[in-house]
Amino acid sequence: MAKKILLTGGTGYIGSHTAVELIHQGYEVIIVDDLSNSEYRTIKSIEKITGAKPEFHKFDVRDFSSLTRLFKNYKFDGLIHFAAKKAVGESVKNPLLYYDVNLNSMLNLLKLMELHKVSNLVFSSSCTVYGQPSQLPVTEDTPFGLAESPYGHTKQIGEDILHHTTLTNGQLQALSLRYFNPVGAHPSALIGEMPIGVPANLVPIITQTVAGLRSELKVYGNDYDTPDGTAIRDYIHVVDLAKAHVRAIERMLNHEQKESYEYFNIGTGKGSSVLEVIQAFERINQTKVPYQVIDRRAGDIVKIYADTTRANDELNWSAQLNLDDMMRSAWEWQKTLNL
Ligand code: NAD
Ligand code: WQD
Repeated sequence: MAKKILLTGGTGYIGSHTAVELIHQGYEVIIVDDLSNSEYRTIKSIEKITGAKPEFHKFDVRDFSSLTRLFKNYKFDGLIHFAAKKAVGESVKNPLLYYDVNLNSMLNLLKLMELHKVSNLVFSSSCTVYGQPSQLPVTEDTPFGLAESPYGHTKQIGEDILHHTTLTNGQLQALSLRYFNPVGAHPSALIGEMPIGVPANLVPIITQTVAGLRSELKVYGNDYDTPDGTAIRDYIHVVDLAKAHVRAIERMLNHEQKESYEYFNIGTGKGSSVLEVIQAFERINQTKVPYQVIDRRAGDIVKIYADTTRANDELNWSAQLNLDDMMRSAWEWQKTLNL
């Protein structure tokens, strides 16, 4: 019998790519999503890619009675909790919404996991938990930094909740994946990031600019202490990231965890500047990215990239795709959105 994995937020950007990789590895995927930041047609795209249609339930994970019904109907082998609000700027304007959605969804899941004796939970954490790092590359031993936003704070609290709950709930195993900067799309160009409204992240802004949906990219500062003056991030292909979730689930199901709560950086280990991203995009897609350098963006991290040794050694995972693959697939996906 195929193992059953519940994905909250499974029609979203990272969740949909993970659904595809799980199905490829023979898992049965059940998705809960309120479609607040995604669309139902993603289910059909997952089916097109994999030949299997995930079971879909539309509701808010904060809705305890709907979630209870789901736990009564299925015996889950594991859960991956993607559902969250993720816009940093919006979280500064509306912190209560972010604490409410991101934390109450986690609490509901943990209560029902305990009640129904479901053991394995993977959590979408973020490199944002480190704040502005003082040493690079960042290892998992780097302590949490000052949260740059309520959004970032919800990821720190989420991880703390998991840590403390695994100490008291003897059968719970939890594992956080601290994503660096996920970009790109599935090579089929059937699923990808679907920003609703104005995107805040670099790569969707680049693709929308080249598609003619905005006039130019604004590069936030070129006077940082970096080789070309622009800020540095560890961009990770979303397909590589999705595969890390499969490894995380396997680790739990095979009882390979050393601690009941574990956490891993998921990046390439390589930093790229904003200008390097633009240049890779231009070269691989044979196009120009119109841009203008403006002032620094308030609160931006100057430089961050991952030490991925722990994920390489213990999850037996490493990124296989490079910046060119990320930029090519991001553009192929954007072109389908313009059709
Ligand atoms: P996304 O918005 O594409 O996906 C999240 C999904 O959750 C969406 O489909 C949305 O409709 C759903 N959702 C939101 N609130 C819900 C609720 N209360 N009940 C049910 N469904 C709900 O975002 P993503 O980029 O796929 O991010 C997935 C996770 O990874 C999030 O937890 C995010 O914070 C985290 N993360 C994302 C990034 C990134 O840059 N994309 C980086 C680090 C961490
Ligand atoms: C990348 C680089 C910008 C837009 C965000 C979240 C963080 C985490 C990852 C979820 C930076 C520059 C951007 C633009 C630009 N997400 N840029 N012009 O800042 O690393 O972090 O995503 O957990 O919490 O804050 O990603 O894509 O916004 O920016 O020059 O129009 O691109 O300054 O150097 P960031 P980003």
